[in-house]
Order: sequence, then C-alpha cells, then structure tokens
Amino acid sequence: MTVTTDPHRPQPVDLSRNPHLTGVYAPQRDEVDVADLEVTGEIPDDLAGSYLRNGPNPRFDPIGSFVYPLDGDGMLHRITLAGGRASYSNRFVRTPMVELEEQRGEVIWSGLTDGYTPPASVVGDTLANTTRALPDINIVEHAGRLMAMQESDKPYRIDPISLATLGTEDCDGAMLVGSTAHPKTDPRTGELVLFTYSLEAPYLTWSVVGAVGTALRTPTPVTGLDAPLMIHDMALTKKYVVLFANPLVFDFAAVMRGGSLLSWEPERGTRIALIPRDGSAVRWIDTEPFWVWHFANAFDNPDGTVTVDYVEHVYPGGFAHSATPNTSALTRATCNPVSGAITRTRIGERSGLEFPRVDDRLLTEQHDRIATVGKAESDSGDLDSLWFHDLRAGTDVAWTPGVAIGEPIYIPGAEHDYWGAIGTDPVDLRSRFYLLDADNPADGPLATVELPIRVPAGLHGSWLGAP
Ligand SMILES: [Fe+2]
Repeated sequence: MTVTTDPHRPQPVDLSRNPHLTGVYAPQRDEVDVADLEVTGEIPDDLAGSYLRNGPNPRFDPIGSFVYPLDGDGMLHRITLAGGRASYSNRFVRTPMVELEEQRGEVIWSGLTDGYTPPASVVGDTLANTTRALPDINIVEHAGRLMAMQESDKPYRIDPISLATLGTEDCDGAMLVGSTAHPKTDPRTGELVLFTYSLEAPYLTWSVVGAVGTALRTPTPVTGLDAPLMIHDMALTKKYVVLFANPLVFDFAAVMRGGSLLSWEPERGTRIALIPRDGSAVRWIDTEPFWVWHFANAFDNPDGTVTVDYVEHVYPGGFAHSATPNTSALTRATCNPVSGAITRTRIGERSGLEFPRVDDRLLTEQHDRIATVGKAESDSGDLDSLWFHDLRAGTDVAWTPGVAIGEPIYIPGAEHDYWGAIGTDPVDLRSRFYLLDADNPADGPLATVELPIRVPAGLHGSWLGAP
C-alpha cells in the first residue's frame, strides 16, 4: 500500500484558513548556509557566538489538523556573529517521521488532534501507530549536548556545527521519560533541572543533569497530583524547582465523546509545587485559577519566601477561548513555603505580553530586567514590539520595529550586553535579526542583519557564546 491509497489518510489542511500556516508563519522549506550577510549599523567586535532558534515548520503541507504551537516539524535557525560579521544557517530537525516523509516525497503523519496514526502497511512495523515527533519548541545546550526540545518527550540531539540531527537524547537517563521543552540551567552549579508530565500516575517527575552531563537525579515522582495536567514551563531557585499546576487537564473521556483533549477546570484552582532540590517533601500552595505558558525567573528571599516572575493569563471564558480578552500580564508571585501564603502582583501596566526572558546568567538570582514580546498600542493585533521592564526603576519601554517580532534573547558580550530577536516584515516577508543595546534597548538596533531567507515566526531559542 502506498501512502496516498491508505483509505484512512486524512484530508489536507486548508492552508488559506490557518493563520499559522500563512504570512509570517508560512513554512520555510529551503535549507541554506550563507556567510557575510548585509548588515545595517555595526556588529560590535566584542561579540562572538550564535543565536539559535526553533519553531514549528511542517516539512510538507499538513493533513488532518494543524494546531499551533504544538504541531509542525522543527526547524533550527542559527545566526552566527563574529569579527563584526554575520552568517546564517537553517536545518530541519530530522525525526524518523521527517526522514520517511522525505523519502516518499509527501506527508504521512497528521496533526496531533486528528487522531490518525499510519499503519504498518504504510510506515513499517517500527513506526506503525506512532504520532509525529515534535521537537519544534526550543533549542537548549547543556554539557556539550545541543538539543531540540519537545513538549514532554525526549529531545533530539543536534550537531552544533552542521545542525544535523543525531537522534534522541536522554541525558544519561535523566530524560528517560522525556523532558519539558523549558529545562533550566543553574548558572552557579551548572546543573540542568527539568520536569516531565505524563498522562498516567504519578503524572509528574523531576530530574537533574550534572554540569558534566551525568544524571544526578533520574525521574523522581512529584507526589500530590490527582490528574494529568499540562505544564509547559518551570522556574528554578537555588533551593526549589517551581512548578505551577494550572487547571488544564488531559481528558481522554472527552476525546472518546468527540471533545477536546484538554479540559479547563477552574474549580481546581492553581496549585504551586515548591520542590526542594535537596529531595525533601514537596510544598504545595493553592491559589486562584489562571494559566502560565512561560516564566521569566525565580529566586529565594532571605526570609525563606520564593519570588516567581511569569506571564499570567486569566481565562474567564475557558482556556484560550476565542471570546476571552487577552489579559496576559507580567506578574510577580511571592510564595511562603512554610505558611502556604501567596501574593500575586502585576508588574507594569501592559497586557498582551508573552515570551518573558532575563539574562540567563541570573537564573535563580534576583533580576532587575525582563524583556517580553507584546503589542505597540493596544491589546489586539500582532505581536509587533519588544517590551523592556526595569523592575528597579519601575519602568516599561518598548521598541516597535513595525514587523512581527519574536522572543528576545539576552546576549552577553565580552565588554557589553545585548538583546537579540528575529523579526519578519508582514508586507514583504523579509526577515531580519536585530541586535539591541541591553542598556538602551528602546533606542533601536545597533545592528540589523538581513537574513537570506524568510524565517517563520516561531518559538524559543538561546545564545551560544563562542567556545
Ligand atoms: Fe514555550
């Protein structure tokens, strides 16, 4: 049987009706290596390293369903800066699914929510009844391993020179049951700390990879959950792994009835787990229902409380309901692990924010500066601005380049620090890399690098300093 004669093969997704498959999100199928890119302004001489970014990018036009940001194959983009010059490379993350589809020259696997899995007669025994691997969320380097991260599954190891895909990685068993796409590295110890949710009890585990890459803690259950919850990101302090168990529940009974896989159950509230990194008992703190995609950072206070900065989404009409106003706001929670008390305070006046980042060298430490992506004027429309929040001064300033802009990443130079981000003009669909002065980001870019191909609007990345 060939793919196209499989009677159960889903119909093509209507690309024109999916905003995440068109315009600045349209998939990029070219793979290129281009040196000496055109630069407006100057790339500072003290800067040497690579800006890496991942994002959903289906290798072939999808069938069945396409749910952003979960579906799609991963594509890695790398902008290397050195000696005042810039180069660009990009590659697909080549999972077994992408490799087989490339051999056949057409799409085989459907989107996640479609429910179709190809039979052995189409894909062979090894891949029969599998779903598409989705290492399209983040790109993380630790202990010499460069990894394209999935949502709660094993990452794919990437060759840092060629960007070729080397296969799945379990970090000496620490990721045996998978990993969040957002593990956190403790800059003080070099440890990579991670969690994984699963659909069966105990639903949640955490692990630690040591600075040299060996597993210091293999998957360890987090006790206290009574249902499988989706948890996308985490925060880390010197004492605690911080997990927010927001009330988004995997509901297989609903799927069997033809409903949604994820059920918003606000009556559960939000339960915050402070997991002592010394392995002692988990402290749970209860608060109101809200949703968190991403954390900026967290740190321990001298009085024993824990401060957590994140973007809080409130969904009065149900999870991500289309009629729900976007009220996402940068928020600071202060949690008392002894009394269970919690305060939540909004940071700044802006709403409609996402992708909060700090200088990664300050993870687990108090930070003064957070950058986010948001909108210039109102809470509607595309993400077109970078917002820079100075917590000490209490100010928010924006840089609005007039393009669809992605996650800002902090770039430490030898003498000065910077923020970097990729943006794409929604009119001519040209992509550029912007380098901003970390001290004066609203002044606009020190350097703008013309990228040789369009980089689809995507998700997360990291800065790799030159070795
Ligand atoms: Fe994310």
